[in-house]
Amino acid sequence: MLRDRYHRLHNYLRISLTDKCNFKCSYCMPVSQHSCLQQRQLMSADEIEKIAAEFVSLGINKIRLTGGEPLVRNDFGDIAFRLAKLPVERVLTTNGSLLHRHIETLVNARFSSVNVSLDSLNPHAFASITQVNHFHRVWKNILLLLEHRIRVKINVVAINGFIQQEILRFIELTGNLPLHIRFIEFMPFKGNGWNSEKVITASELFRIVCNEYDVVKLKDEPHSTARKYKVIGYEGTFAFITTMSRQFCGECNRIRLTADGKIKNCLFGKEELDLLAALRTGMPLEPVIRQSLLLKHQTMGGQFTHGYRNTEAHKIFNRSMVNIGG
Ligand code: 5AD
Ligand code: SF4
Repeated sequence: MLRDRYHRLHNYLRISLTDKCNFKCSYCMPVSQHSCLQQRQLMSADEIEKIAAEFVSLGINKIRLTGGEPLVRNDFGDIAFRLAKLPVERVLTTNGSLLHRHIETLVNARFSSVNVSLDSLNPHAFASITQVNHFHRVWKNILLLLEHRIRVKINVVAINGFIQQEILRFIELTGNLPLHIRFIEFMPFKGNGWNSEKVITASELFRIVCNEYDVVKLKDEPHSTARKYKVIGYEGTFAFITTMSRQFCGECNRIRLTADGKIKNCLFGKEELDLLAALRTGMPLEPVIRQSLLLKHQTMGGQFTHGYRNTEAHKIFNRSMVNIGG
């Protein structure tokens, strides 16, 4: 079992497969700073399998594959099938644009749930955020997942001034589709233009929804970062991820692995330990994993100690999101 100094049990591993992405959302991938890792710096499929198996032997029972965009990896199928041999729940976070090429793999490797990042339902706004014209492809792929009975969550980054035009259209989608929409408060990462004025909090968003709809609170899943609701009579649900306004670190059960094999004990953690180097030099992995957890801070990587409104983006030390893996 993997516990940190605050007795939190860690059973959920998020593995980034690549820092490459075929989209260019500015909040995630700062144009000036992004440099792709070399092939030899990335964990290979075999290394991912070995590292994942070690984590599973220590009590991990859920693995999320992230990126960058995980589906740009040519060996995604190989990785998925290697992980399918492990007794874990498998889930994926993707921008959705390449899902049609991998749907059979996801079904056969028994992925239970896929998070699709989609910030706008307007094809023009979508193109201006992502710098690609793939709205209709992503939408078709969301429907393809539903046809294959894979649970779909849609991640919407809520940026003040922008989300106001979108939020009710996203809620309306849950009317006759079993989609789970999650509005994520805008978070600062290296070079992503964050400032506290661009944050719109979950309670402000909730007010917009309640002005239009009759809403009920649903029970949140254990360790969930999302506070879940639904419109009465609607098929899907919506939720808020309140990273900025109301932190949920007390129950954190997550540990992350970057595409170059560094353990990150927290999305906002500064400390990274090189697990891939340990594997490649034949060192035991368990002490590195345990050491990483011992370094984990109680909340938000030990940063944001004065609340988000008093946070200056340049004082936050972190990678950009595309280099972390969500
Ligand atoms: N703030 C909030 N959410 C973000 N994501 C990426 N960058 C940010 C940010 N700066 C979300 C994307 C993706 C998920 C892994 O994180 O929606 O789906
Ligand atoms: Fe790519 Fe996702 Fe980052 Fe957008 S948020 S650039 S889709 S990794």
